[in-house]
Amino acid sequence: MTTHPREQIPEANPRGVLVVDFGAQYSQLIARRVREARVFSEIVSYKISVSEIREKNPFGIILSGGPKSVHQPGSPKIDPAVFEAGIPILGICYGAQLIAQTLGGNVLKGGRGEYGSTQIEVLDRSGILSSFPESAFKVWMSHADAIVEVPPGYRVSAKTGEAPVVALENPDRQIYGVQFHPEVIHTDFGKELLDGFVLDICKAEATWTSTSIIESSIQKIQAQVGGGKVLCALSGGVDSAVAATLVHRAVGDRLTCVYVDTGLMRRGETHEVEALFAGKFHVDLVMANKRDRFLSALVGIQDPEEKRKIIGENFIRVFEEIAREHGDHKFLVQGTLYPDVIESGGQDAATIKTHHNVGGLPDDMDFELVEPLRDLFKDEVRKIGLDLGLSEEIIWRQPFPGPGLGVRIVGEITQERIDILSGADAIVVEEVKRFGLWKTLWQSFAVLLAVKSVGVMGDERTYGYPIVVRAVTSEDAMTADWARLPYELLDKISSRIINEVPGVNRVAYDITSKPPGTIEWE
Ligand code: XMP
Repeated sequence: MTTHPREQIPEANPRGVLVVDFGAQYSQLIARRVREARVFSEIVSYKISVSEIREKNPFGIILSGGPKSVHQPGSPKIDPAVFEAGIPILGICYGAQLIAQTLGGNVLKGGRGEYGSTQIEVLDRSGILSSFPESAFKVWMSHADAIVEVPPGYRVSAKTGEAPVVALENPDRQIYGVQFHPEVIHTDFGKELLDGFVLDICKAEATWTSTSIIESSIQKIQAQVGGGKVLCALSGGVDSAVAATLVHRAVGDRLTCVYVDTGLMRRGETHEVEALFAGKFHVDLVMANKRDRFLSALVGIQDPEEKRKIIGENFIRVFEEIAREHGDHKFLVQGTLYPDVIESGGQDAATIKTHHNVGGLPDDMDFELVEPLRDLFKDEVRKIGLDLGLSEEIIWRQPFPGPGLGVRIVGEITQERIDILSGADAIVVEEVKRFGLWKTLWQSFAVLLAVKSVGVMGDERTYGYPIVVRAVTSEDAMTADWARLPYELLDKISSRIINEVPGVNRVAYDITSKPPGTIEWE
């Protein structure tokens, strides 16, 4: 897709706290904790220059942890001038060691290190540890090197039996370091420590609320789009729904949404999307019913990868056709989230991910991208979605694969088999919701197999398909565990499917984790 230079997109981020990333596992978590204090936070590379920092005019800076040792050749360092910039700084783990090393203290290489939950002794509660109580509590440690001497002018405010410096500070210069990780939930009073740094020490304004996010997003979109027309592919998922709603608030009827019904959607989904966007929000919505087209392209196809390819390609062609019919749209909405931007390496990342987000639209479509969720984490997207009037149903959608039910029908896809699967799947969804487990599960769905087995119903022999129920817990779909669903729930799902879905005479529960299994069956 031809995208226009990023410089054209107006940058109007609010003032916030910078999280300087040294390759930490927890940088995103730090940024989220800052935002929980209602202060905008932005993750930046350690390569950032002091003048770039000054341009951003942050309330404060947090130096993250990192996997390297400060002694390792080539380990990431920040421009030392940052310590002279008069901006409050908090170093966490590697960040604290960097403060100690750069400003004339001493960091001991290797040693015994400390990992996991550790008891610390607080020596001074007047500064960064002001929220920590007298009584015993634990913090989360994960370090090999240890600070053994603080720089001139710094004081030690906590220690452990192993480490003589667990927290160091120079209140006059507003520079602080902690060896432990306040951002993880295993650290008692970690949230209070970060809130204290952000609100009391940095004196940041707590203005990053749903309302302010919505308002500033609308302004940004209006500034970018001007009087132009915008196209948006709706999938029914939460990200595209929130992105479309925001853009609709910003540009009204200059937004056209496109929903491609492949015939492989969950039961009721197409109707829900139409009722919400065309019915409630009065969005100009193109409902493209392309069921026959997808079904005939899939006749006789059994191979999972071939199915994926056919569904993906047809989706692109349909979208292209619709875009051509509405040829005057200059902008395309993408539901790219902040973690996608960070994970792919910052500013250049958006164009890579955008393809993925709309199912791989081709390179020769000439659109400028509108990405209203680019600065947001998923929980923020959900929050503003609710404030925008989207239903809990939409907000708490479980992830759904692009090829839809197509990769949950093992073997050939026919209308009859789609009906069987969508009927069984609707029962799984209904019962999981009834048991109050919908939000705690990453995904829960039905899979239709290609074999048949013998059964008996009402004294009659049956020969029907088995349905496999799949329910998993996961953080990010990279790994997953099969969910320990209550027997009562499994029993209810099984008996309803057998009784209500013709053609099914057996229900199995998939107890495979990922790895070695994948979440989807195909
Ligand atoms: P697997 O089956 O690989 O799935 O464990 C991991 C996550 O990705 C989703 N998934 C897909 N999403 N297009 C998508 O947009 C696909 O082809 C696809 N295949 C799997 C799956 O639902 C799970 O959340």
